[in-house]
Amino acid sequence: MHSSFFFSFSALVASVATGAVINPRYGSPWTTVKDHRLIHQFPNGTTVENIAVRSNGNLLVTLTSSPELYEIDPFNPKSPKLIHHFTGNLALLGITEVSPDVFTLNAGNFSAEIGLSPGSWAVWQVAFHNEQTKISKVTDIPEAQFLNGMTTLESTPNTILTADSAGGVVYSVNTHTGEYKVVLENDVFKPAPGAPLPIGVNGIHYLDGYVYYTNSFDPLFGRVPVSKSGCAVGDYKTILTGVFGDDFAVTPQAAYVAGNPANVITEIKLDGENKVIAGNINSSLVAGATSVHFGRTIRDKHVLYVTTTGTVNATFVEGGKIVALDI
Ligand SMILES: *[C@@H]1O[C@H](CO)[C@@H](O)[C@H](O)[C@H]1NC(C)=O
Ligand SMILES: *[C@@H]1O[C@H](CO)[C@@H](O)[C@H](O)[C@H]1NC(C)=O
Ligand SMILES: *[C@@H]1O[C@H](CO)[C@@H](O)[C@H](O)[C@H]1NC(C)=O
Ligand SMILES: *[C@@H]1O[C@H](CO)[C@@H](O)[C@H](O)[C@H]1NC(C)=O
Repeated sequence: MHSSFFFSFSALVASVATGAVINPRYGSPWTTVKDHRLIHQFPNGTTVENIAVRSNGNLLVTLTSSPELYEIDPFNPKSPKLIHHFTGNLALLGITEVSPDVFTLNAGNFSAEIGLSPGSWAVWQVAFHNEQTKISKVTDIPEAQFLNGMTTLESTPNTILTADSAGGVVYSVNTHTGEYKVVLENDVFKPAPGAPLPIGVNGIHYLDGYVYYTNSFDPLFGRVPVSKSGCAVGDYKTILTGVFGDDFAVTPQAAYVAGNPANVITEIKLDGENKVIAGNINSSLVAGATSVHFGRTIRDKHVLYVTTTGTVNATFVEGGKIVALDI
């Protein structure tokens, strides 16, 4: 497999969210990007995969090019801080805040050379207490083939959902006990036949009683209503097909989907209307966009932070970066 092609898909991850009442933005205006600025660009060869935001506003980003987690203050982005190097793994993927200032992430072996490495995957916890950081393993998930997107199951304390892109299932994990089980399994999560990489479900985000998801190589965005424990309690509904989606952010009105490898951010209203709001196939603005997160402070709650792999096309590759889009 062509390595630039591989890397253009390597960070495909999604997340999910739930919401009580979804109000599709019928007829409402499209989001416009008023300004954009580079927060930080890593060296060439670095691929940035996923993002979470601390309540103090600092960004936490995972890499797939090395097993590293960085923290960056978007208002003073001069010196990203390496929080931890997860020795024994090749890559970090989805990350989510499970309780105040406690985050979990997926770690395992994944690279262009070895592929997805089933059996290498685990969920880890990173707890911030004042200036101290405590790193601990929550659990191995030896059955998993490729743990990618992750989200917090807000209906159940200390519980996250993690998507196995190759296995086509979603696990729930109790981060206190380490107990895990498959809670969502459906054909809509399976890798498409003939996909260049066995990646189906990618990003997942829980919002108000629904799990939203992307499938990367059977390109679709959809949602399923779930119980408090994360099991499906209704139909898997496809909202949109044909738009390549990695991970995304979702609000009660719309999702903002990182279009890896199309180098765009697409706004998808929850009735399926959609529009590219940033980037294009030849643009490096969001080159190989992998994930999206809203800022959490008053100063930046209207900012979409985008992470990238840096691959625009076969001839242009730059270092992965974090870009702020003011909307
Ligand atoms: C990842 O692969 C390396 C060898 O490349 C191996 O030493 C390590 O144990 C593997 N990690 C996991 C979590 O399986
Ligand atoms: C992208 O570049 C290709 C090759 O130069 C060109 O044919 C195509 O029209 C461009 N597309 C856009 C959207 O700029
Ligand atoms: C590849 O991306 C670069 C940087 O955005 C652009 O200048 C170039 O036209 C693109 N090449 C093709 C063949 O589309
Ligand atoms: C990044 O590295 C790739 C692969 O080595 C190279 O082709 C490309 O020119 C480099 N890009 C920059 C901006 O240095």
